[in-house]
Amino acid sequence: MDVLDRLRLDVPVAQAGMAGVAGGRLAAAVASAGGLGTIGLLPTTDLRAAIGRVRDEAPGRSVAVNLLMRFTRRRHVQACIEAGVDVVVVAFGGDAALVRELRGAGVFVLVMVGTENQARAAVAWGADGLIAQGREAGGHLVGTVAALDFLPRALVVAQDRPVFLAGGVATSGDTGAALAAGAAGVVAGTRFVLTEESGAHREYQRRILAARTTLETTLFGLSWPMRHRVVPNTATDRWCRADGAARRLPALINSLSAPLARVVPERSEGTALRMQRPAIPLFSPAVPLEGMPEQWVDRAALYAGESVLRIDGVVPAKQAVAELAG
Ligand SMILES: Cc1cc2nc3c(=O)[nH]c(=O)nc-3n(C[C@H](O)[C@H](O)[C@H](O)COP(=O)(O)O)c2cc1C
Repeated sequence: MDVLDRLRLDVPVAQAGMAGVAGGRLAAAVASAGGLGTIGLLPTTDLRAAIGRVRDEAPGRSVAVNLLMRFTRRRHVQACIEAGVDVVVVAFGGDAALVRELRGAGVFVLVMVGTENQARAAVAWGADGLIAQGREAGGHLVGTVAALDFLPRALVVAQDRPVFLAGGVATSGDTGAALAAGAAGVVAGTRFVLTEESGAHREYQRRILAARTTLETTLFGLSWPMRHRVVPNTATDRWCRADGAARRLPALINSLSAPLARVVPERSEGTALRMQRPAIPLFSPAVPLEGMPEQWVDRAALYAGESVLRIDGVVPAKQAVAELAG
């Protein structure tokens, strides 16, 4: 299968779904530039509007939606199926019934994985392709080793299914290395946080551009105590050890808070961040978005991958796609 033809792409470059950072504006800009623009998990009404926006602004291109399973509800799946989206990326969970339902509705299903066991499970569910995530990636991590080390193992499990590489992709050289190693394409997140069409708060963009290091932590784990990669801020300075690990109190609170994910309402980001304080170890996964107060960036997760240390500016998404494609 030529996945570029199947997904109507000009270049083997996908933009990661990143909740509110990746709304219709970013996904449409990437799709118009010939890449795969992926809408992040949004409240259902916003999700429907974002799907419409990509259709309007990038006619003839694929519409892709990221289902971040921890916070995905039945209505999100229904919205994707009713709108007839072309691609769904299932991430941080999933099962055979979901993949079967989506594929039955004509959706091309990619599953993001970070271990061979996860890859085997995704193939058993019937996934059309895999996204192999490396540990250097920004945001939440299933990746356990560097992306280029994991890719060959994922390719063996995937057999003839396409495998996209995610993690550490910031230049055409990175894309070239992934393709040479057998990837069908690349997925970039951090590079697209740093675009003009990104929903990220401008101060969040400035902070990650200025960062000298990234941290793998579980600090921002209220309701979702899973590993994630961020750049340091006041909250991590106060509550993380030098190696990034969350100190005992937030780690304990987060591990006890996991059942909360089932009751987190849509549009809870603003509420969560309004209540968070650098001095109090209650940190949700919510990300600082455009329009929020600037001081919130010191109490929120500033997600970014290791590639941020090689990126030096905010560019239009079209330019980012062109630079990644080479
Ligand atoms: C700000 C941010 C938010 C993210 N949110 C999601 C998400 O909602 N769902 C998801 O599947 N992956 C998410 N990711 C991870 C990406 O899917 C991808 O694996 C990662 O960004 C690739 O690594 P890179 O950041 O080095 O390009 C996020 C990444 C970032 C940087």
